[in-house]
Amino acid sequence: MNAQVELGPKGLTLPLSAGPVYFNYYWLRDNCATSTDPQTRERIFDISELPGEPVAEKAAMQNGELVIDWRGEDHRTRYSLAWLDEFARLGHIADPADLPRRLWRSNQYPSFVRLDQAQVDNDPAARALFARAIIEDGVALITCMENSDGSLTRLAQTLGEVIPTTDGFYFDVQLEIAPTNLAFTARALEMHTDLPSETLAPGVQFLHCRANTVEGGNSLFLDGAAVAEDFRNSNPADFELLATHDIPFFRRHERWDARAHQRVIELDRHGAVSGLTISQHLADVFDLPQPLLDDYYPAFCRFVHALKKPEYMNRFRLNAGECIVFDNHRVVHGREAFSAETGQRHLRGCYVDMGALRSTYRVLAREGHLGLMPEAAE
Ligand SMILES: [Fe+2]
Repeated sequence: MNAQVELGPKGLTLPLSAGPVYFNYYWLRDNCATSTDPQTRERIFDISELPGEPVAEKAAMQNGELVIDWRGEDHRTRYSLAWLDEFARLGHIADPADLPRRLWRSNQYPSFVRLDQAQVDNDPAARALFARAIIEDGVALITCMENSDGSLTRLAQTLGEVIPTTDGFYFDVQLEIAPTNLAFTARALEMHTDLPSETLAPGVQFLHCRANTVEGGNSLFLDGAAVAEDFRNSNPADFELLATHDIPFFRRHERWDARAHQRVIELDRHGAVSGLTISQHLADVFDLPQPLLDDYYPAFCRFVHALKKPEYMNRFRLNAGECIVFDNHRVVHGREAFSAETGQRHLRGCYVDMGALRSTYRVLAREGHLGLMPEAAE
């Protein structure tokens, strides 16, 4: 037996690269390689069915492995020490899709990752670049799209499946005689994230420009995570309020009455800002306790002011044949007014789950397609 493994009553301690690391016996028994079916890759071991608490009878480090024999069981568990070391360092299993966000401010539009649809269709490396851009930057621009419904479906399916909302699977942003949404008018559209009235506001949004010959109607895009991170520094107490309390959003019309509570500033499990939910035209009657509103409302107003600062704004024209794809929980978007008599403007849109995009990226990364920009690649 190797003296370096220290057995305790509920777990053991290993000398790993960062020093001694403690592992719980339940965890070590549960994550044994034999717990997973090699074919389905799903867990087939039920830790709750063990007759008693798992305790190591013997444990040793040998040939790059930790080998454990369990008390009262004819069972041996093996772990790669490198895997345990990585887990101890990260605190979770390695995730290639857990990439830090690259925050951006104004004048970013020329630097958006741009790919032709044919590249994304045919080249897994381009697909990885596309998926990675959405994870890191929250935005990418796909060019040379066909003027067809199928073109958008094909693009969305390179990242995941199209998910439905209260409205169905697709939406068309164009003038309507009896509009149910400000988007379907020629008016300016204030900065917002889409559909906060859905229980799970959509993750990835696609807007395929099919026609744009009108005067005006420029697209407005900003990185809400950048605004919120700056706001955390300038207004920490306000930030805390917006990142802690949920407010209601709605979308009511003849055929629907969608409602959900959302947090204006959303944090990921590392504590970084992952995104926002903001839409003043779909904000419902705030139902936080009235005394809390004494602080919440001014904080909310100061944050909305921050979102309006020119230092964050990108203003550009979306052209026919382009599809802008973005993280709907991070990229706050809007539109300038246009004059309807001057031409035609038609955007067709849909959504894909961000989890599906991350899954797509992980599979591509496993195949060696990391989606690095050509100049950054080895
Ligand atoms: Fe929108």
